[in-house]
Amino acid sequence: MTPSPASIDATATALQAQGYLPSRELATAAFLALRLARPLLLEGAPGTGKTAIASALAAALQRPLIRLQCYEGLDLASAAYEWNYARQMIEIRLAQAGGAQRTADELFARRFLIERPLLQALTTTPAPVLLIDELDRADAPFEAFLLEFLADFQLTIPELGTITAATPPLVVLTSNRSREIHDAVKRRCLYHWLDYPDADRELAVLRARLPGIDAQLAAQVVAFVQGLRQLDLYKLPGLAETLDWSRALVELNAVSLDPATVQSTLGVLLKYQDDIARVQGSEAARLLAEMRQVARG
Ligand SMILES: Nc1ncnc2c1ncn2[C@@H]1O[C@H](COP(=O)(O)OP(=O)(O)OP(=O)(O)O)[C@@H](O)[C@H]1O
Ligand SMILES: [Mg+2]
Repeated sequence: MTPSPASIDATATALQAQGYLPSRELATAAFLALRLARPLLLEGAPGTGKTAIASALAAALQRPLIRLQCYEGLDLASAAYEWNYARQMIEIRLAQAGGAQRTADELFARRFLIERPLLQALTTTPAPVLLIDELDRADAPFEAFLLEFLADFQLTIPELGTITAATPPLVVLTSNRSREIHDAVKRRCLYHWLDYPDADRELAVLRARLPGIDAQLAAQVVAFVQGLRQLDLYKLPGLAETLDWSRALVELNAVSLDPATVQSTLGVLLKYQDDIARVQGSEAARLLAEMRQVARG
């Protein structure tokens, strides 16, 4: 485990070394989350690096990454802990066979506890990075349950007592805003909104992630995608789509964007038929012309 970065710049550099290029604001948020030992809540458009920063932070800090994917119906038994009933039953049987008794206290000991991500995050050393991904997919009672955890980095297990982290984990929560996260959760977190990157950062990310890509093609891809994001589409492409599209173009040995190539690969970039229909043809031609102008200017 490396010590926490000493400055915002050091945080940004450590993330960059992992191939994750944060904006200045995001590097600041991550730095403060570490310094103040506060959870970091990230919201933003899909494919803008909310999930990826957790693994980049874990790698940069050389801490384990523990991941909790949220979904509707997520409960304590899957998120925090579960008693190992099978093992408790065997213990009782064995005790009976030997003529002994087991008290409830003996049966609700740590060794009968199955640790799920939230509890693991408190007991793992070094203190891990805990990613609670897509919290908006879980239901409200689960958020209420998280309050104690997020405020004090502890969990109370009725049969056992309170388990507290020796060193607080770095908690990263993400949401796609399919619903609002409760204010009580937000109050316990630092908040950062991840926007689509500007052209410079998008190009830098692209070249960091796909070092082999032709420089001219990379610049054209970024200009085209940035142009697409100006349109009123149902679902705008995120960084994830930019990277996917670039990989596809490299795979097809494209060296520059032309109408036929764009036409045949739009499905990597846009995932709704209405959006594809809208962009195909004249709109794509217009964006390509604009892109050439940018490249010349
Ligand atoms: N700043 C960045 N630097 C480097 N790579 C990035 C950056 N932001 C995003 N990426 C890459 O873009 C892809 C999508 O990122 P990620 O999955 O984290 O998005 P997300 O915001 O969690 O999306 P979703 O809301 O769909 O879950 C990943 O491959 C990630 O590595
Ligand atoms: Mg994600």
